Amino acid sequence: MESFTGKTAVITGAGSGIGRALALRSAVEGMSVVVADIEVPPMEETAALITEQSGAEALCVQTDVADAKSVAALAEAAFGWQGGVHLLCNNAGVFVGGLMWERTLADWNWVMSVNLFGIVHAVEAFVPRMLTQEEESHIVNTASMGGMVSASFSGPYFASKFAAVGLSECLAHDLEAVGAKTGVSVLVPSLINTNIGTSTRNRQESFANPVGHETPTSGAEIEKVLQVSASEGGLEPDVVADKVFAAVRAGEFYIPTNDTYDTQIAMRFEDQQVRQLPRVPPID
Ligand SMILES: NC(=O)c1ccc[n+]([C@@H]2O[C@H](COP(=O)([O-])OP(=O)(O)OC[C@H]3O[C@@H](n4cnc5c(N)ncnc54)[C@H](O)[C@@H]3O)[C@@H](O)[C@H]2O)c1
Repeated sequence: MESFTGKTAVITGAGSGIGRALALRSAVEGMSVVVADIEVPPMEETAALITEQSGAEALCVQTDVADAKSVAALAEAAFGWQGGVHLLCNNAGVFVGGLMWERTLADWNWVMSVNLFGIVHAVEAFVPRMLTQEEESHIVNTASMGGMVSASFSGPYFASKFAAVGLSECLAHDLEAVGAKTGVSVLVPSLINTNIGTSTRNRQESFANPVGHETPTSGAEIEKVLQVSASEGGLEPDVVADKVFAAVRAGEFYIPTNDTYDTQIAMRFEDQQVRQLPRVPPID
């Protein structure tokens, strides 16, 4: 997909971090932007920034991607707004770290429901309607380098991101198989300076841990291993948005953010070929 002007983008998790940057960049590209997030004030702030910075139209739709009905309502609002959806960024995501056996079932359910089922719900709600459109469209799913390589202290999050990568590949194959004009890319960021280190701010009551089994919300060592330290060392989200638009224009499927991507996947592939547990690659 090469032309974005006059088209409509839908961005989930658009209230913060990478999602906000994707929303602002979509507006700069001349798109009308549906700004979706579970957290209302930051979502509205993104919409205000869109109007202020580029004068583009923005529609806020509070959405919980873990809830299929909420995502169906988002699709209804988005298709009903300007008559189509041309860029869908399934970006909302949350993080839980720590030793796998110390994580609760509620932790797993939360992370999988947002990071994996958030995308599943969007595939169900958006793709059939995108297929009926005359024009080209594109889906960008935000996974992570944690969906390409593994590390310790990372079970639920990395598992959800490996699943998001697999889903994205299969979705691209399915769309190709039916000759669709809808493309797919998967964003696999390394460390980016966002608010993901405080994901629990948006943890729904339905995924609360049992009393006495609360999950630690952060920890320097875990953050280092998982590359989620929100304060320093990572790329800025607007750099990621530039890479996303360049990759969609170029028709690229994988969208890494750092040059270390090549070494990281090469190391994994080498280890897989000799039937060994993949080494933990160097962290950016
Ligand atoms: N920051 C990084 O280093 C990094 C690295 C790799 C991948 N990612 C991925 O990038 C994506 C964006 O995260 P970010 O780093 O910008 O973090 P962020 O916390 O700054 O932004 C995430 C946004 O998702 C929203 N959100 C959370 N739960 C939601 C739900 N149930 N429904 C709708 N919206 C919800 C939050 O309110 C927030 O606005 C995530 O999928 C994350 O896993 C981030």
